[in-house]
Amino acid sequence: MQAMAQSHPNIALIKYWGKRDTAKNLPAVDSLSLTLGGLWTKMRIDLSNQLECDELIINGVNNESNLSRVSQCLDLVMGKNRKFAKIISECNFPISAGLASSSSSFSALVVAANAVMNKKSDTQLFASQAGNISGSAARSLLGGIVELKNISNTIKIKQLSNVTRWPLSVVIAITDKNKKSISSSKAMNLSSHSSPFYSAWIENQSPDMNEARLAVKEKDFAKLAAVSEHNCLKMHSVMWTTKPSVVYWNAATLNCMHAIRDLQQSGEPVFFTMDAGPQIKAVCLPENETRIIKRLAEIDGVESIMTSSLGEAPTSSTQL
Ligand code: PMV
Repeated sequence: MQAMAQSHPNIALIKYWGKRDTAKNLPAVDSLSLTLGGLWTKMRIDLSNQLECDELIINGVNNESNLSRVSQCLDLVMGKNRKFAKIISECNFPISAGLASSSSSFSALVVAANAVMNKKSDTQLFASQAGNISGSAARSLLGGIVELKNISNTIKIKQLSNVTRWPLSVVIAITDKNKKSISSSKAMNLSSHSSPFYSAWIENQSPDMNEARLAVKEKDFAKLAAVSEHNCLKMHSVMWTTKPSVVYWNAATLNCMHAIRDLQQSGEPVFFTMDAGPQIKAVCLPENETRIIKRLAEIDGVESIMTSSLGEAPTSSTQL
C-alpha cells in the first residue's frame, strides 16, 4: 500500500514559542499563521513486509537524523504494531533552516499516514497528530490565514481567511541555507527556563492575537504589519535573553529588516517576520511584490529569493 500527500509550510505572524505540556507537545500560546502556497513538501509512504526498519529519504538522500521523529509520528497515527515504511520526502526549499520545513513535512506525513490506513479525513484530529510532533505543523492542515487556539488539553485550528478573500504575498530572502545551530524545540525549552522575559511573552500573547484577528477581519494591512513585527521582535527578545542566548539572525537578516523599514517609510505596504533561522519573510500585497524582491535581492548576504502567495490545505492520494 502506498500513499502520497503534499502540504505547504506556514509562517506565524503571531508566534508560538514555548510549550505548556512537553510530553503532549502543546504550545504555551495561541498563534496565527499564513500557509505558503509557493513552498511544498511531497511525502510518499510505502508500507512493506520486506523492510526491517523504517527508512527515510529526503530529497534523494538517506536521512538518519530525522528518522526517529518520523517513526514516532507514524506510530502515533498508525499504532506501534504497524508495518515498517519507506518514507520518501521531497521539498522545494531548504530544510531545518528556519523556513518551517517541519510544518509542511509533518502535516504531509500525518495526511499520508492516515491515507495509507484509509482513514477518513478529519482536519482537527490530523492537526493534533501533526502538532504532537511539531507545534507549527498543526497550522498547515488549513489554507489561507489560520489561527491555532489552545483548548484545555488539546488544540483547535480555524481558517480566518481563505486564499482569495485577502491575497497576500510573501517574499523570502534566504541568507543562509545551512542547518540551524539549535532546534526550535531545544531552544524554546531553554527559553522557558532561563529568559527573564518568558513570562511576559506568555502574558502578552492574547492582546496580540486579538489585534491580529481583527486586522484580518478588517483586511487592515497596517494593523497586521504593526502587531506582527511587534510579536516577532518579542519572540526574538526572548530568544536573545535565553541562557545560553539563541541568536538566529546574521548581518544580512538585520540589513533586510532595515531595508524593509526604509520601504515602509516610503509608503510601501510591507512588513517583516523571522522564525528560528536567519531568513527574512517580507509580507506584502501582490501588486508590491516586484519592488520588494528587487530591494531585498540587492542586499549583501542575500543568497536567493523565493516568493509565495497564500496556499491551500494538504492533498493526498493512495495506490495499492
Ligand atoms: O514547530 P516547531 O516546533 O518547529 O516550532 C516553530 C516555532 C516558530 O517557527 C519559531 C514560531 C511559529 O509559531 O511557527
